[in-house]
Amino acid sequence: MRDLISFNSDWLFEGTETVTLPHTAVELPFHYFDERSYQRGFTYEKRFTPEPEWNGREVTVHFEGAMADARVRLNGEEITAHKDGYTPFEARLTGRMKDGENVLTVEIDGSENPAIPPFGGQIDYLTYAGIYRDVWIKLTAPVSIASVKIETPDVLADVKSVLAKVVLADPQGLGVSGSLIAALVKDGKSIAETTIEVQGECAEVRLSDLRDIALWDIEDPQLYTLRLTLETAHGSDTLDTRFGFRHAEFTTEGFHLNGRLVKIRGLNRHQSFPYVGYALGKAAQRKDAEILKYDLGLNLGRTSHYPQSRHFLDRCDEIGLLVFEEIPGWQHIGDKAWQAESIENVRRMIRRDWNHPSIILWGVRINESQDNHDFYLETNRVAHELDATRQTGGVRYITDSELLEDVYTMNDFIMGEFEMGGNRPRTALRPQREVTGLDHDVPYLITEYNGHMFPTKSHDQEQRQAEHVTRHLDVLNAAYGANGTAGAIGWCAFDYNTHKDFGSGDRICYHGVMDMFREPKFAAFAYQSQRDASEGVVMEPVTFYARGERNIHGILPLIVLTNVDEIEVRYGDFPPVRVQPDRDAYPHLPHAPVIVRPEHFGDGGLGVWGMTWEHGEIVGFKDGKEVARRTFVSDPLPTKLVVVPDATEVETGEAVRVMVRLLDQAGNKLRHATDPVSFEVSGPAHLFGPDLVPLRAGSTGLWLRMAGKGKVDLTVTHPILGQTTVTLQAI
Ligand code: GAL
Repeated sequence: MRDLISFNSDWLFEGTETVTLPHTAVELPFHYFDERSYQRGFTYEKRFTPEPEWNGREVTVHFEGAMADARVRLNGEEITAHKDGYTPFEARLTGRMKDGENVLTVEIDGSENPAIPPFGGQIDYLTYAGIYRDVWIKLTAPVSIASVKIETPDVLADVKSVLAKVVLADPQGLGVSGSLIAALVKDGKSIAETTIEVQGECAEVRLSDLRDIALWDIEDPQLYTLRLTLETAHGSDTLDTRFGFRHAEFTTEGFHLNGRLVKIRGLNRHQSFPYVGYALGKAAQRKDAEILKYDLGLNLGRTSHYPQSRHFLDRCDEIGLLVFEEIPGWQHIGDKAWQAESIENVRRMIRRDWNHPSIILWGVRINESQDNHDFYLETNRVAHELDATRQTGGVRYITDSELLEDVYTMNDFIMGEFEMGGNRPRTALRPQREVTGLDHDVPYLITEYNGHMFPTKSHDQEQRQAEHVTRHLDVLNAAYGANGTAGAIGWCAFDYNTHKDFGSGDRICYHGVMDMFREPKFAAFAYQSQRDASEGVVMEPVTFYARGERNIHGILPLIVLTNVDEIEVRYGDFPPVRVQPDRDAYPHLPHAPVIVRPEHFGDGGLGVWGMTWEHGEIVGFKDGKEVARRTFVSDPLPTKLVVVPDATEVETGEAVRVMVRLLDQAGNKLRHATDPVSFEVSGPAHLFGPDLVPLRAGSTGLWLRMAGKGKVDLTVTHPILGQTTVTLQAI
């Protein structure tokens, strides 16, 4: 048996403060801060006394991630060092601990050391210092299982098999000799088992003749566990690894999952959050995956631009969200030593994550770098050598780039270029051969679009937000229409804090279809409405519903992002009007939006400037039946403050997001509201960020971290509506 013991609590930070991991070295304001504030060294120290049951076992301390250049000392002696800020590292404690109290010290360096990828140039995101992921103590038998790579060679055949490539660890040099039992486990039951004798540190074990195996798919992500048990004269060790049976391949026809074409509809994700940067743990990481899949209706997330939390990937496996994962970097390629470190990053990423069925592509270029033949030949070689079961991509924005990867992965920002002069009319995507410069098709995936070409805030004027929506729809439509293109991944899911050299001057890139709290902008519904209505009816009119918000006035033309068949618009005493999705404008989308135009109402549209502004209603129909209804009042007033936690039972140590929204009489958000709201927490929980904040576009969010078991009351006070309290349970 092996034990994993959480080592997250009671770290002494900078010699003064006791903190719990994940931890950010410097909590930041929401925006307008100096990112140099965390770009320096920090020290964490943990005092611990080995437990009697650690005796006779291998003891390892495991760090999931620390930013960056970590040096770990035990009682003053350096036991490991790790430069990369995004991948795990371990140090053996066996035989090095003394009786009684031991001191584990971790020094990190938050400065952007140009010797370490992604640093050396400018980067459009922040790399917040801290031990920002979990730390574990791992206890195993002296001879144990170090790692396993699970492959499913004949995955689409009726009769399947599992090949496990196992590495065994014998740090004491006792000699590896014993038996290895491999069991395939589904829903807690072993459904196939085999035993082999092992000698030496490498072993391959195969489970064959497997029948009635369910595939992992985006709609039905079936997972299996491979339970490996090593029995030697020195004890036994068991390692459970989750995996799935699935076949993923990019070809010139597009992306095939389990033999069928699936158009990729994705967004890029940065792993950052307001105030705490990278330092939110399991619950928040898992929630982000759920937001991408369910709230945005996506089938893929790209981990721009680095390996992201294991918790995020685990959840992607569980819910069927595809992942394109890539090595750390942004445009800049450093010297040979830097490149060697980057090649190591390829190894570290693939070794950590090769068993996640959700991952379908390795990104082995520095995002948006120039061609570099030798360097990228090597990153590709290493990726293929370590994992022959997955293809490689490498994200570029340059055309005619040397294709050393399996998939030409391209950031196509052409939508938006019509505003920069030149002769090209407004274009959503370029044809792939124009991009690649090749005379034949290759596997091709769009990895970014929009983003900095059209930054849009949730408090921007309605017309700008409608244009934001339109640009996302136009590219999606073009990607669906481009036969052979695997799909498109937009920039990006969430607004993010960034360096002064990017963004809107307040250290935010407003490139998300959601804000930093993951509150949707209208463009979020361009994605969500593409899902099947059986997964949830979507009907989101792109309007604040006001006579005078737009230039000229009025709310027409009105885009309604929806997956219903038809809508009915009711306005004041005007006769109701029925409008269908605009298939002419969006022939390729799974669900074209409805566009309500002035003509639908006859001359004058919905009345003119100076006339009374009336209530309105939009009703959605599917198969002739009403499935959705939105009511809009002409005289919106603050009526209700809703406080919505993502969960009411939260594990101790985990953070839960709580959204606060100011609604009018009809339940619509008051989109101009900037009222201050204050937070008061009673019970064992810590509030990240300030306790007095403005609403932004009618909403705000917060994260509460549970500091112990018990009842937690969060009271939110609004100047007009007074107090609302929600009760959470820390378990
Ligand atoms: C790309 C880059 C992203 C982000 C985006 C903004 O060039 O890869 O990281 O900066 O632009 O649109």
